[in-house]
Amino acid sequence: MKVNISAVGQGGMVEVLDGSTPVLIANVGGNFYAVGGVCPHMRCRLAKGTLSGGTVTCPCHGASFDVKTGKILSWVTSMSKDLVKVSQLFGWAKDLKTYKVQVEGDFLELS
Ligand code: FES
Repeated sequence: MKVNISAVGQGGMVEVLDGSTPVLIANVGGNFYAVGGVCPHMRCRLAKGTLSGGTVTCPCHGASFDVKTGKILSWVTSMSKDLVKVSQLFGWAKDLKTYKVQVEGDFLELS
């Protein structure tokens, strides 16, 4: 999939579709990263959240993820620690899929 590089300004993020699958592309310090665009908690779109440094925070219940690795940094902020552990045990608290991003001229190539 190719995305025009101008769509993702410095410190910004944008959602694109890979077929019907939302993908989040983030520009962190001039480097581009792409991860799954849907929060694994209740499927909110991460592009509607906030990006701070390399961390995207879900707009719905505050889970946060590292856009460089897709790893969960914090799970749903309103959950008790016990429920967070249960969510992790049952695999509900999943990391985001990551995509390889290459800059080719004015475009980002995702694979
Ligand atoms: S949907 Fe993302 S934290 Fe709930």
